[in-house]
Amino acid sequence: MRSLDRRELLTGLAGLVIAGTSSSAAPGKNLKTQSVRPEDYEMEFAGFESYLTPNDSFYVRTHTLTPTPDVANYEIKIHGLVNKEVSIKLADLKKMKKVEIVAVMECAGNGRANYRPTMPGLQWDQGAVGNAKWGGVRLKDVLAMAGIKPEGKHLAFNSADKPMGTQPKFIRSLETEKCMHPDTLLAWEMNGEALPTVHGGPVRLVVPGWAGDSWVKWVTDIEAIPTEFDGFFMKTAYRYPKVLGKPGEAVDPKDTNPVTWIKVKSIIHSPKVLAPGKVLVGGVAYSGLKPVAKVEVSVDDGKTWKLAKLDKNKTQWGWRLWSLAVTVPADGVLVARATDEGGNVQPKEQEWNPSGYLWNVQPRVVMGPRPGPPQVTGVEYPKEVKSKCITCHDDHMMQGQRMTRAQWDKEVDKMTRWGAPVKPEEKPAIVDFLASKYPAGK
Ligand code: HEC
Repeated sequence: MRSLDRRELLTGLAGLVIAGTSSSAAPGKNLKTQSVRPEDYEMEFAGFESYLTPNDSFYVRTHTLTPTPDVANYEIKIHGLVNKEVSIKLADLKKMKKVEIVAVMECAGNGRANYRPTMPGLQWDQGAVGNAKWGGVRLKDVLAMAGIKPEGKHLAFNSADKPMGTQPKFIRSLETEKCMHPDTLLAWEMNGEALPTVHGGPVRLVVPGWAGDSWVKWVTDIEAIPTEFDGFFMKTAYRYPKVLGKPGEAVDPKDTNPVTWIKVKSIIHSPKVLAPGKVLVGGVAYSGLKPVAKVEVSVDDGKTWKLAKLDKNKTQWGWRLWSLAVTVPADGVLVARATDEGGNVQPKEQEWNPSGYLWNVQPRVVMGPRPGPPQVTGVEYPKEVKSKCITCHDDHMMQGQRMTRAQWDKEVDKMTRWGAPVKPEEKPAIVDFLASKYPAGK
């Protein structure tokens, strides 16, 4: 839930991270920094006013460090359970039949900052989503050159990414069936421009309808394998419970599936006051599963609903802009609700999952000013934290988090596994500092 005041919106949890000691220059318009190294940037609410999200306003999510791919010699290898191993040069890809598709890409963790209890991970508010026109070649046409054997039920995508410390490479596997869908692309263009490196250029996967974790950037290697890839970013990260538990409950990884489809969702960008009591409310709406059929708006916190006006841009995978002028009391609550053509309705209550994925509850905006959370400024880090934690990545990674002492304890263990040189005797001081500086529930 958020209030109408734009400045106040930006001091939300995700906004906090821009106020700290680290440098926070975002590489474009309407972007706020989640992390500079690795590069993670979130789109601000103003970005939701465009149908196609400009490349320099489009959110960026990078688990590892951004590579500098050798574009001139770039090639993609296809191997594993194939009839013929092949390597395809970028120049040859570009000679194949080109297609363009408008599609929403949304980070699986978009909205994580709004979950309670809080969990580790980048604290995205709403802006880890955008809509672009992607240009490239059908993945199935490229795969046909190698011929995937029937046993190759999954394809693992590796890339030119650069892990930090002993962090595993970002390798995701997708079911071959989804890879063969005519709208799954190897793309080198974004909104008519060469795909920027930060967005995965020269070539990334475009997987319409699925969350961004499947849209592997800088693809260099495709391996046909019999089962899901057995690595951190498939086995541990990006999984969703098969059966939902109570908020805060842990879930055994064997009771989870990989994150795939994004859910039906509307976002309210910025209600504009037209006259006293009269407000123009608008935003975007999308669903990975089916095109959006309608968006409704309520001025009485969901008791009654009115149909909003949808733009004419109806496509299979893109979002739609919507708006409606409403009369709303000074202390009223605006709510939006999207429904897709499959009858999926944006829920009133958010499902909980331990990693904070696929947030899609009906957005609520309280009219009138409300006090925002306090800002974090000028953080002084003890020397252990400086020397052990602000090396691979900068302090944005820590500033965004809100965790209990137990969660911080686990987080420091994870970092130690990934190469942070924390000695056992140094750990308590680090955990104490982080748990008191960035505690849960604040
Ligand atoms: C050897 C490199 C390295 C060091 C040193 C390091 N980290 Fe990390 N850290 C990573 C990597 C890799 C990620 C994951 C980035 C991603 O997936 O976006 C990460 C992510 C994080 C996150 C985000 C949550 C998550 O798990 O993805 C937090 C919080 C964090 N680190 C805290 C710390 C703290 C505290 C320390 C000091 C004890 C530390 N890091 C030291 C490599 C490091």
